[in-house]
Amino acid sequence: MEPGSVAILLGTGMVTRSRDTEYPFRQDSDFWYLTGFDHPNAIAVIRSDDGPPYTLFVEPRDRDLETWTGYRPGVEGAKRDYEADDSYPSTEFGERLPRLISGAKRIYHVLGRDPKVDGAITRTIEELRLRSRQGIEPAEAIVDPRAITHVMRWIKAPVELDIMRRAADISREAHAEGARLAQAGTHEYELEAAIEYAFRRRGARGAAYTTIVGGGANATVLHYVRNDQKLRQEELVLIDAGCELEGYASDVTRTWPVGGRFSGPGRAIYEVVLAAQHAALELCAPGATLPAIHDAAVKVIVEGLVELGVLEGDPAELAAREAHRPYYMHGTSHWLGLDVHDVGAYKQGGEPRPLEEGVVFTVEPGIYVAPDTEGVDQRFHGIGVRIEDDVAITENGHENLTSEIPKDPDEVEAMVAGN
Ligand code: GLY
Ligand code: MN
Ligand code: MN
Repeated sequence: MEPGSVAILLGTGMVTRSRDTEYPFRQDSDFWYLTGFDHPNAIAVIRSDDGPPYTLFVEPRDRDLETWTGYRPGVEGAKRDYEADDSYPSTEFGERLPRLISGAKRIYHVLGRDPKVDGAITRTIEELRLRSRQGIEPAEAIVDPRAITHVMRWIKAPVELDIMRRAADISREAHAEGARLAQAGTHEYELEAAIEYAFRRRGARGAAYTTIVGGGANATVLHYVRNDQKLRQEELVLIDAGCELEGYASDVTRTWPVGGRFSGPGRAIYEVVLAAQHAALELCAPGATLPAIHDAAVKVIVEGLVELGVLEGDPAELAAREAHRPYYMHGTSHWLGLDVHDVGAYKQGGEPRPLEEGVVFTVEPGIYVAPDTEGVDQRFHGIGVRIEDDVAITENGHENLTSEIPKDPDEVEAMVAGN
């Protein structure tokens, strides 16, 4: 922050699931990144003037309430365990706000999250302006702190990469356990349960996003999460499942043959997607861009679809007019970190952002042939394949964090068969 600034950062509160029950608490990613404070309704005040650099407003200790909802660090814990210079109960935030921001040249605050806090800040600035004859100068600007935090979060520090490696390893184990259940007659939710049990057993918070288990044609629905159908012999089942560990997401997709043997058309599509993923992974290095990585995947997918007779024509011309869109309708990559679709700009000055050491993203090409697709050989109807890995850019190339999760078709068959 510029000197003379004060940042006001809001943690998350509880979110209602139904009537009077709540979802488990999940801290705001920026707040977690900056504070490591994992309790609801906190506000952090960080300053670059001569005031105390770090104040944490928190829910105070309360013997009665803690009987219901558990331990709170309280103001004592905020200072003792979270290195806050000052700490007050969250309920005192409003009354302390004028003192916190009077004298600040800039206020860093995300507008639009909490109208009450927005109103308190703008009202306070206005009141300070009215006291200008007493020599008080109100802040000149309210600036979005995400211009700073999202640049910081885009590059992962070694400690973050370590967590992401561990998250990837838990997801590896979970996928292996799910794979063994990819047998005819098993319900999609049984795989989901086995995978999420493995996440929790190894200490992950749970799934980083809703687990997708799509058998047969369900694999052609990109965000299929009902997971309530039975698997059938020789179908494919697409699993998109990754755990969240210490706030960090892993994001992995594998596609398995139910019963352990690919059908002819299933294997043909699978091999095209795998070749596309290899072509994309090969480009992952400092200086490359996500659009270039996507184009490499598209090239292989279009060539493959022409070879299989799904598309007809010159591959380069087909790719140029995006003829693959009915079968490959999503991007190849997104940033990955504390959010599964992580923060960070995709363009800089209108140009794709070149990759740098420490950047983490997914590589996830796919082919999806919906069951009702006209003009495509019936054999391919209802086949959906995606293969997704998590990649960290290194000094000279990349590290595939999820490379230990089998994807070679022979290895996949062996894994499903339990070998
Ligand atoms: N699982 C969400 C995604 O792959 O982007
Ligand atoms: Mn995914
Ligand atoms: Mn993804």
